[in-house]
Amino acid sequence: MPTTPRQVTAPVEARAIVVSNVEIAAHTYRLRLACPELATRFQPGQFLMLRLPGRTDPLLGRPYALYDTYADAQGNTVGFDIGYHVIGKQTGLLTELIPGQVVDLWGPLGNGFPQFTGKHLACVAGGIGYTPMIAMTLEALGVKTYGQSTTPASPERRVSMLYGARSKSHLAQLHELESLPNATITVATDDGSAGHKGFITEPLDTLLAKGEVDAVYCCGPELMMKRVAQIAASHNVPCWLSLETPMACGIGACFSCVVKVKEDSEDGWDYKRSCIEGPIFEAEKLLLS
Ligand SMILES: Cc1cc2nc3c(=O)[nH]c(=O)nc-3n(C[C@H](O)[C@H](O)[C@H](O)COP(=O)(O)OP(=O)(O)OC[C@H]3O[C@@H](n4cnc5c(N)ncnc54)[C@H](O)[C@@H]3O)c2cc1C
Ligand code: FES
Repeated sequence: MPTTPRQVTAPVEARAIVVSNVEIAAHTYRLRLACPELATRFQPGQFLMLRLPGRTDPLLGRPYALYDTYADAQGNTVGFDIGYHVIGKQTGLLTELIPGQVVDLWGPLGNGFPQFTGKHLACVAGGIGYTPMIAMTLEALGVKTYGQSTTPASPERRVSMLYGARSKSHLAQLHELESLPNATITVATDDGSAGHKGFITEPLDTLLAKGEVDAVYCCGPELMMKRVAQIAASHNVPCWLSLETPMACGIGACFSCVVKVKEDSEDGWDYKRSCIEGPIFEAEKLLLS
C-alpha cells in the first residue's frame, strides 16, 4: 500500500484570534486564526468545529478543514488557515469577522488523509474541497510537517493536483504549490473560462490511464467524488474520499453524520460516524447512494 494510517492527537477546546479574513475567489474566503494549541496538532484532512462566541443562531458549530498552518518569525507554528465557501448562516457571518475578533474551536477532529508513502499522488478537488489538498501536498512533498507526523521524504515523489470549479472566478490561486517542481496543477472549469472545459474527472481519467499514479485523494461535491471513485476503480488505483456529511456535534454523540461502510457482517455493511471514523474513507469500502 502506498499509504499508512495517520496517528492523530486528542482534540482540544480553544479560543482563536482572527488574524485576517480575505476573499480569495467568488464567495470563497481564507480565514487566518492565531491558535497554537490547535495549529501544533492539526494534520492534513482533519477538521475543526467552529462557533461564533455569544451567538445562539446558529447554535451549533460548523465543520471546516485545515487549509494550512503558519509560523511566527522564530519558526514556531502559531496558527492556521481555513477556507470557507459562503452558503448559509454561519459562513455568511464569518465574512464579517475582522482582525482581533475571536472564535471558539474544538479540534483537531477526524482521521485525516492517510500519510502518503508512494511515488505519485493525485489530489482531486472540487470547489472549496481544494483546501485540505494544500497541506496534504506540502506534506507529501516533504515541504512541511504537521502535528506529530512525519512522512519519510522522497525526492522522487510527485503530486498531481487536479482542481475543478464552476468558472475562473470560483478558482482560488494555488500559490503554495505553484513554485514546487514536483507538483503539477491541472485546472478545469465547467464553462471553460480557465483550464480544461468540462469536469476535472476527465483529466483525471487521462492521468490514471498512464499507470503512474499510486493513490487518489479527493474532496469535493458528492457527485464528483462518486465519479472519481469510479474512475480510480476502473484503473485499479486506491482512492480515498473526504466526505462533507453535515455534522451537528463533531464528537460522535449525535449520529447525524453516519455513512454506510462495507463490513464482514450479516448485512454486509454498517453505519460509521463520519466525524469519528472519517471524514476520510477508502472509496471501495463506502456504499455511496
Ligand atoms: C468534515 C467537513 C469539513 C468541511 N470543511 C469545509 C471547509 O473547509 N470549508 C467550507 O466552506 N466548508 C466545509 N465544510 C462544509 C461546511 O461545514 C458547511 O458548508 C457549513 O456547515 C455551512 O454552514 P452554514 O451555517 O453557512 O450553512 P447552513 O445555513 O447550515 O446551510 C445552508 C445550506 O447548505 C446545506 N449544507 C450545510 N452543510 C452542508 C454540507 N456539508 N454538504 C452539503 N450541503 C450542506 C444546508 O442543508 C442548507 O441547505 C465541511 C464539512 C465537513 C463535514
Ligand atoms: S456529527 Fe455527531 S456523531 Fe458525527
